[in-house]
Amino acid sequence: MILAFCNQKGGVGKSTTVFHLARAAVTRGARVLVVDADPQGNITSVLTDGIEAGDAGLADALSAHSELHLPDVLLPGIWEGLTVAPTAGGALSGVRDELTTSTAPGRESRLKAELAKVAAEFDLVLIDCGPALDQLTINAMTAADGVVIVTQTKLWSVNGLAQLLTTINGVRQWYNPQLEVAGLIVNQHERHTLAGLHWATELNDAADAAELPMLAPKLPKRQAIADASESSRGLDEGDNAERELHQIYVGYLDQLAERMNR
Ligand SMILES: Nc1ncnc2c1ncn2[C@@H]1O[C@H](COP(=O)(O)OP(=O)(O)O)[C@@H](O)[C@H]1O
Ligand SMILES: [Mg+2]
Repeated sequence: MILAFCNQKGGVGKSTTVFHLARAAVTRGARVLVVDADPQGNITSVLTDGIEAGDAGLADALSAHSELHLPDVLLPGIWEGLTVAPTAGGALSGVRDELTTSTAPGRESRLKAELAKVAAEFDLVLIDCGPALDQLTINAMTAADGVVIVTQTKLWSVNGLAQLLTTINGVRQWYNPQLEVAGLIVNQHERHTLAGLHWATELNDAADAAELPMLAPKLPKRQAIADASESSRGLDEGDNAERELHQIYVGYLDQLAERMNR
């Protein structure tokens, strides 16, 4: 199962969610590949022992100017069962620009073609997208079986969702007819505040109207979620409260798998 985590807004929790879902999956014995499709390379820095600007990465696998392919650039992740297609330095923004101006056919399908070379080695592929609806995100959606929309009650906007759905529909129409919205994850939900409740209602209504499957429960705003991913720790390695949060991500894996296997 290949999932792309998308929202053109930054700071909603895409990378954090990919981090904890990858952890949830490896603790269950799955072979997981995380693809860092964000030029900022945040997920690479927390899921690998580090790469330097100039080291081979996803950019090299996608660029027409490089001889390297995806199998050449994969790195072991910080946990058993985890592999990362890394991003560091400015290389991936260079490739985004290359794809944007490319007139060669097939620019949307570069990542799909590269993933096909390694997909059989993994049970789950998670693509962490950057905060844009650009050629990198379109490549991720073209390669994916499903899109997971990560949003935040506070930062959510009707217009933003409409733009995202337009891009998903465009990719489905032209490049990837099988593409589905695998789920909507509401992150940093503050259910004890009036504003939180207000936005949750708006979001629920919008999800119903667009027939988006909302994963349950909503993810609360918790310092432990941020601390664990920023220090490369699994929530399952923490105290009871943290282990409960870990179980939310485990539940998400089940809900996503169920949705995609229908
Ligand atoms: N559920 C959460 N509770 C508290 N902080 C969170 C939560 N999810 C994400 N964060 C924090 O919010 C910030 C933005 O998250 P990030 O995953 O980097 O967003 P994105 O990848 O969408 O840009 C980070 O500092 C992260 O640690
Ligand atoms: Mg991110």
